[in-house]
Amino acid sequence: MNWYPAAVPPQAGREVLVTGANAGLGFFTSARLARAGAHVTLSGRDPGRLAAAVAAIRERMPRAAVDTLVIDTSSLDSVRAGVDRLLDRAPLDAVVLNAGMVHTPSRRHESVDGNELVLATNVLGHFALLEGILPHLSRGARVVTLGSLSMRLSTFRVDDLQLARSYDAWRAYAQSKIAATSLAFELDRRLRRAATDAAEAVGAASATPRVHSLVVHPGYSISGRTPRVPGVNEPNRTDRFADALQAAWAQGKHRGAEPIVHAVTADDVEGGQYWGPVWLVKGRPALAASTRTSRDARIGARVWAAAEEAIGRPFEVPAVRA
Ligand SMILES: NC(=O)c1ccc[n+]([C@@H]2O[C@H](COP(=O)([O-])OP(=O)(O)OC[C@H]3O[C@@H](n4cnc5c(N)ncnc54)[C@H](OP(=O)(O)O)[C@@H]3O)[C@@H](O)[C@H]2O)c1
Repeated sequence: MNWYPAAVPPQAGREVLVTGANAGLGFFTSARLARAGAHVTLSGRDPGRLAAAVAAIRERMPRAAVDTLVIDTSSLDSVRAGVDRLLDRAPLDAVVLNAGMVHTPSRRHESVDGNELVLATNVLGHFALLEGILPHLSRGARVVTLGSLSMRLSTFRVDDLQLARSYDAWRAYAQSKIAATSLAFELDRRLRRAATDAAEAVGAASATPRVHSLVVHPGYSISGRTPRVPGVNEPNRTDRFADALQAAWAQGKHRGAEPIVHAVTADDVEGGQYWGPVWLVKGRPALAASTRTSRDARIGARVWAAAEEAIGRPFEVPAVRA
């Protein structure tokens, strides 16, 4: 599996969960982390597709430490069943919130819980997952959320997160990515505040958050520029040809996974950062600038409250120091 430009530091002993890991960026992130020695839990909504992804990894790395966990992020019951399973396992050192509907429906649909489907899948399921497992993350763990360049190309309707009044397929996608990024930075602020409160309570000067929440975007990463992996990535000739025409401004998903892997593994990473490809749409990982909206603390607090309401429970970040 020599698809990559840079080596990953040894990951033996680290526990990582990747959602939406049976395909695309999630698959290549999982494969790369497993190759570096991490124990990776590949999560997805379909057991057959998860089995195919694990088989593809094992074919190249028979001793890879990988297992699977079925979570459909669009369903709060499925997420909570997944949380119960995770709480019985070893604490996680990193969680990659990657699962997402990228090709969004032209008409508004609702999830089984009555939330707008793209928001439910890309944002609310991950919010509920984190609410359940945050206390079970190890000290220094990283929560890596998938943002997107699309955030720059859309406004944000924080007063209509469920797009009840103004749904269209593009807005649903872009808005879900803005909301996910806003929540990730809000989580970072709350983790820092919790660390400061815990430090003040014992008269200590320094306050390192117990967990780091940051955001990554993969530039523009497409299947037709991605190695063929049976059962995981099998674009037809037409897609390969069409995607080859975009070579100047697109990369494969194996390369798009690089900033995600960097966010999970590199020493120069901390909560509140935003990483992406150095040339915006492609290239090696580099620190990037997120949008003003996604960094706005007042907006973050409103999205947090709306997400709590949508998942039907409060999400407290307890005062704990690293
Ligand atoms: N590719 C890009 O250029 C790009 C750019 C910006 C951001 N991103 C973000 O990167 C992430 C991955 O994108 P990708 O390009 O790798 O997409 P992808 O190839 O379509 O893969 C998406 C993954 O999410 C899973 N998923 C979808 N709905 C799910 C659900 N309800 N429950 C659990 N898993 C679900 C899919 O599983 P199934 O196979 O079961 O559908 C698949 O494993 C997304 O969050 C996307 O917004 C991608």
